[in-house]
Amino acid sequence: LRLTSGGDGAGTTSLTPVLSEGWDDEAPWTLDGYRERGGYEGLRAALAMTPDEVVTTVSDSGLRGRGGAGFPTGRKWSFIPQGPGPDGRTKPHYLVVNADESEPGTCKDIPMMLANPHALVEGAVISCYAFRAQRAIIYLRGEVVPVLRRLRAAVDEAYRAGYLGRDILGSGFDLELMVHAGAGAYICGEETALLDSLEGKRGQPRLRPPFPAVEGLYACPTVVNNAESIASVPAILRRGVDWFRSMGSEKSPGFTLYSLSGHVVRPGQYEAPMGITLRELLDYAGGVREGRRLKFFTPGGSSTPILTAEHLDLPLDYEGMAAAGSMLGTKALQIFDDTTCVLRTVLRWSEFYKHESCGKCTPCREGTYWLVQLMERLEAGRGTEEDLDTLLDLSDNILGRAFCALGDGATSPITSSIQYFRDEYIAHLTHGGCPYDPADATVYG
Ligand code: NAI
Repeated sequence: LRLTSGGDGAGTTSLTPVLSEGWDDEAPWTLDGYRERGGYEGLRAALAMTPDEVVTTVSDSGLRGRGGAGFPTGRKWSFIPQGPGPDGRTKPHYLVVNADESEPGTCKDIPMMLANPHALVEGAVISCYAFRAQRAIIYLRGEVVPVLRRLRAAVDEAYRAGYLGRDILGSGFDLELMVHAGAGAYICGEETALLDSLEGKRGQPRLRPPFPAVEGLYACPTVVNNAESIASVPAILRRGVDWFRSMGSEKSPGFTLYSLSGHVVRPGQYEAPMGITLRELLDYAGGVREGRRLKFFTPGGSSTPILTAEHLDLPLDYEGMAAAGSMLGTKALQIFDDTTCVLRTVLRWSEFYKHESCGKCTPCREGTYWLVQLMERLEAGRGTEEDLDTLLDLSDNILGRAFCALGDGATSPITSSIQYFRDEYIAHLTHGGCPYDPADATVYG
C-alpha cells in the first residue's frame, strides 16, 4: 500500500493533512507518534464537556458520514435513546465502527488505519462517551491482516495508557473496545448485514426501519459509523467547530480523504477540503498518464454513476455530485483514460455485484445474474440494440426494489455508461466485438 499524503501539484485548493498528517514519518502509528501530533487531546477536551455537549459539537460541525451516504454524524448519535424505555428497562448502547471497506476502488480506511490507528481509537472513545456506550467494536474486513495487527496493537497501547478500560483518564467513564475481523464478504459492509455477521449469523441485510440507532446489535441502540467518520471526530473536538467549518461548504464542511487510482501518475490518498474538484486533485496527482486524456471516472467507487471530462470542475461534495446525477459515495476516484473499453469495465463491475449479491432478495439475486448475461453478450459483439433497452428495463426493475443498496449500486455503472457512451455500445455491435485495437488499449480487469 502506498501512503501518499500530498503531492507537489499546483491545485488552488490546498491539501489539508489531518488524518494523513505524519504518514511520511517513520512510524506514525505508535502512541508516542500520535501524541506528538496532538493525539488524545480531543479526548481530554471531550471529557471536560458533558456527553450532550459533545453530541452538539459534532452536530454543529456538520460532519457527514464518510462511508458513502453522507448522513449527518451528530444527528445519528442524537437518535440513541437515553434513559429507560417504555418497559422501564435501559438497554446497553453500542458503537460499531464499519471498517469493512470493500467498494471497488475504495482504499481510504485501510491506509488510514495502518498509518493512524489511534485516531480511530480516540474517535471511538469520544463517540461512546457522547452517546453513552460502554462497548465498541471495530468490524474490519478479514483479508487485511496487517491492519488487524496494527489496530489490535494500538488498542493494547490505549488500554495500557488509560485511554480505554475503567475510569478513562479519571473521568469515571468506562469503555471496552474490541477489533473483530469479518470473513471478506462485500455485503457485510452493509450495516445491518454487518450486525448479523457480528451476532454470528450469516451476513445478510435486515429490513430498515428499524434503523440500527433504534434496534441494532442484539436489538439494542447501536451507532454504526464508518472508520473515517469516527477518526475525524478527535480533530473536531481538539480544534473546534469553526476550524472544521472553515473547510468545505455550508452543507458539506470539513476535510476528507479522496483516493485516486487507475490511469493517474501518482495514485494515492489526497486529503483535502470537501468540494475540491477532480481537476485540482489531478494536478496534485500528476495528471492522467502521459499522452492520454481522461475518458471517465467514478466519484465514489463503482456504485456511483460514472462521470466524464465535462465534470472535471464540479465540486466533489454531496451537492455537486448530486447535481451531476451522481453521488459522492466513498470518494474513490477511479480514473480511466481513453484506452479503456467502457463495456469491459462495466462488465467487470457487473461480475463483481453478481458474485457478491447475498441472494436474499429476488431483484438483486436474479437481476445481477441477468445484467452479467446481457453485458457479456454486448461486450463480445453478439448482442442487438434491443439488448440495450432490456438492460435499461432490467436496471429500472432492480433500482429501489432490492433489500439494500447493493442492487442499486449494480445498476449505476450500467445506466450511466449507456447515458454517456451509447455510441461505444453500438460500436461493439457493428464491429462484432471490442472496437479497440488490442495493441493500443488497456482492457481493464
Ligand atoms: P442510507 O442512506 O440508507 O443510510 C446511511 C446511514 O444513515 C445509515 O447508518 C442509516 O442507519 C442511517 N439512517 C438513515 N436514515 C435514518 C433514519 N431515518 N433514522 C436513523 N438512521 C438513519 O445508506 P446505506 O444503505 O447505509 O449506505 C449506502 C452507501 O454506502 C452508498 O452511498 C455507498 O456509497 C456506500 N458504500 C460504501 C462502501 C464502502 O466500502 N465504504 C461499500 C458499498 C457501499
